[in-house]
Amino acid sequence: MRVYFATGNEGKFREAEEVLSRYGIEVEMVDLDYPEIQSDSLEEIAVWGVRWCVERLMEPVFVEDSGLFVDALNGFPGPYSAYVFDTIGNEGILKLMEGVEDRSARFLSVVAFCEPGGKPVTFTGEVRGRIAEEERGEEGFGFDPIFVPEGDRRTFAEMGVQEKCKISHRTRALERFAEWLVARRGR
Ligand code: IMP
Repeated sequence: MRVYFATGNEGKFREAEEVLSRYGIEVEMVDLDYPEIQSDSLEEIAVWGVRWCVERLMEPVFVEDSGLFVDALNGFPGPYSAYVFDTIGNEGILKLMEGVEDRSARFLSVVAFCEPGGKPVTFTGEVRGRIAEEERGEEGFGFDPIFVPEGDRRTFAEMGVQEKCKISHRTRALERFAEWLVARRGR
């Protein structure tokens, strides 16, 4: 079984490959540079994106939209994570968190899949954790150097892809997606 992953993010693609290969699902990266709508809902952004992609590609395709939600900042940057990362980055988030005691945060991921002529289906995943006091680690991408997942002391960037994949929000969403694909194939 083969599906396309519309993304320009190599880090996300490597993680998807790692998870989906366990289910015997082949994944191909396609950088369609699809437009992302502005919305408070990751789900809405992903569904809109995958509809755009499937119309152009005419192949089974999924997109993944994710965000970092910091409790003390009332969920900011959330659906605006990409913009915030590109503008103020990890340093900016650390500055906003200076002197803040409650450092709890979570990553959310939404995978939206669609086949030509079909309706989009979505799968979500979450990992809870905390914002570190400083950037640590060289692996991964995005907010990985400042996110410490629950039950660990290391940031995501201090783990390898394989270790991060065992617990990440994206893995959880991708696993649900893969299980659904496999169950459907068996029917
Ligand atoms: P988007 O899903 O591509 O819109 O990404 C939202 C933002 O969150 C981007 O800046 C990503 O770098 C960041 N992001 C998404 N997933 C992760 C992750 O697993 N680790 C660190 N940063 C992430």
